[in-house]
Amino acid sequence: MRSEGPQPPSTDECAIVTRSACKSFLDGDVIAFQDLDLSIRKQEILCIVGPSGCGKTTLLRAIAGLTSLTSGRIEVNGEAVVGPPEGVATVFQHFGLLPWKTVFQNAAFGLKIQRKPQAEIEERVRHYLDIVGLQRFADSYPYQLSGGMQQRVGLARALAIDPSVLLMDEPFAALDAQTREILQEELVALMQQPGERKTMVFITHSIDEALIMGDRIAVMSARPGRVIEMIDVPFAWPRDVEEIRARPIFADLRRHVWTLLRNPAQRSKSSSEVA
Ligand SMILES: Nc1ncnc2c1ncn2[C@@H]1O[C@H](COP(=O)(O)OP(=O)(O)OP(=O)(O)O)[C@@H](O)[C@H]1O
Ligand SMILES: [Mg+2]
Repeated sequence: MRSEGPQPPSTDECAIVTRSACKSFLDGDVIAFQDLDLSIRKQEILCIVGPSGCGKTTLLRAIAGLTSLTSGRIEVNGEAVVGPPEGVATVFQHFGLLPWKTVFQNAAFGLKIQRKPQAEIEERVRHYLDIVGLQRFADSYPYQLSGGMQQRVGLARALAIDPSVLLMDEPFAALDAQTREILQEELVALMQQPGERKTMVFITHSIDEALIMGDRIAVMSARPGRVIEMIDVPFAWPRDVEEIRARPIFADLRRHVWTLLRNPAQRSKSSSEVA
């Protein structure tokens, strides 16, 4: 099952490139991740799975320009990341909504920062609240919404700025299992709508979610995080989530990733192979 993956794409086909990226904390005592060489194609969905503490969130923050690397380089759309790059939106696990603002005002937040004209803000926010099914809740406050609805607002806020790159850090982890499956299906449906497909880095602890969402899955080792295997997900788009789940290859791949994650011996062997 070990997959070498296809040849790495050339740089101009890529939306995100990391080169020998390394991030450490506490004067090098804690190495979050190291030797990360990722090439993420335009409009590709890369899912990242890995043990807690292997540097996934730190990597996402580095791509978003919210933290700097210790060494190496990250490029987004061909430009070195030295601060938050243009056209990048992030969705975090805990929604990050402003409790004193309405759903509409929260969803409009990124556009306000970009100082877009009010008419454009109205149009775009209404459009994306409609897409995430919250048009009737525009004047509600976050406390009046369920967790799933709050995360829909987070998604609408990210999509409203029309990002070319969407960074998602366990966006559905705080939700109950049923809501999570519904939002997975909705996001898959959205990503196959014309004009809505983004380059996406999607961090999750759910192997099923990675298989449903991803074009590829990067499996990371325990800290210091490295990519121990890059898996091509063999499901074509458009995807029917129910149908994919029922395929034998889905169960085989899930077992394979699970084995990689829980077998430290295999991890360190693979990790040194890659390094
Ligand atoms: N600001 C910081 N200062 C010191 N250490 C940090 C800081 N941020 C992260 N770390 C450390 O870096 C490592 C990676 O953290 P990170 O949050 O990226 O892991 P993660 O893979 O996202 O974990 P999880 O799956 O639990 O979310 C951890 O050991 C963490 O303690
Ligand atoms: Mg994390």
